[in-house]
Amino acid sequence: MSARWTERLTADGSSTLAHADHGETFHSMSGAWTQARERYARECRLRERALELAPSGTRALRLLDVGTGLGFNLAAALEALADTGVALEATSLERDRDLLVHARAAPREPADLERWHAPVRLALGSALASHGAESVPLANGRLRLRLGDARASLAGLPEGLLFDAVFLDPFSPRVEPELWSRDFLAAVARRMAPGSRLSTYSAATEVRAGLLAAGLRVGRGARVGEKREGTLASPDLELPSLDPRVLRRLGARVGASGGEPRFGAQAGDPRGSIP
Ligand SMILES: C[S@@+](CC[C@H](N)C(=O)[O-])C[C@H]1O[C@@H](n2cnc3c(N)ncnc32)[C@H](O)[C@@H]1O
Repeated sequence: MSARWTERLTADGSSTLAHADHGETFHSMSGAWTQARERYARECRLRERALELAPSGTRALRLLDVGTGLGFNLAAALEALADTGVALEATSLERDRDLLVHARAAPREPADLERWHAPVRLALGSALASHGAESVPLANGRLRLRLGDARASLAGLPEGLLFDAVFLDPFSPRVEPELWSRDFLAAVARRMAPGSRLSTYSAATEVRAGLLAAGLRVGRGARVGEKREGTLASPDLELPSLDPRVLRRLGARVGASGGEPRFGAQAGDPRGSIP
């Protein structure tokens, strides 16, 4: 084990790492694999989206994975698309090369994580060895790994590349504020295709305000493990409504900075206005 990370067993039997610099874990201690599946793959409705896309002849679902980390979220995405006939075309952004080398080293428990994590490790290994290849095979799809600061990596992606789903999974705003900044959230929003969803574990008012200010609809993400709620965002989809008190706080925050709030619509919840 590198001194930079310490292995931690989480409540669902999967292990994560704690970062030596700031102590934060890469995943929720109530279940790393559960978080990947439920917070990211399920909340972005990857499987449902793939089944919607398949009849139109679309053969790939485009995922933007912010913070590759151990690659658990990529593994959950592979699992979600299994047998849909739609392959994963993932673009994953990570600045810590050593971490990826470390992440590739060991098989992972439990077995259902390992089944989907093994192809992710293989793809990460190919990407690290490829010296700048545009993308490498990932199961029956592709992985485009961009090493470096995600802000620059995102800006350097091919023009017109839009994503069907976004996993927004940096460390917390306290330790890594740059990937929660309004500028970065706006850049992510510009990369979201019609019908796409973004999911993040953060329920911070400032993060939600940033997503709203970027012109996205914002809604409540589901409870996952001990985390009572996360955040969803989409350019155009209806999302579970936020609590009215949260909406008032957000309206004040976004209004103060001149944005036009667009909340996740629900019956009786007029979009774009504060109840
Ligand atoms: C919470 S972990 C991600 C866990 C990961 N999604 C997984 O499934 O294992 C956050 C990751 O974001 C990366 N990160 C943080 N700031 C970054 C930045 N500015 N650019 C690129 N990656 C960054 C960290 O190195 C770390 O690997």
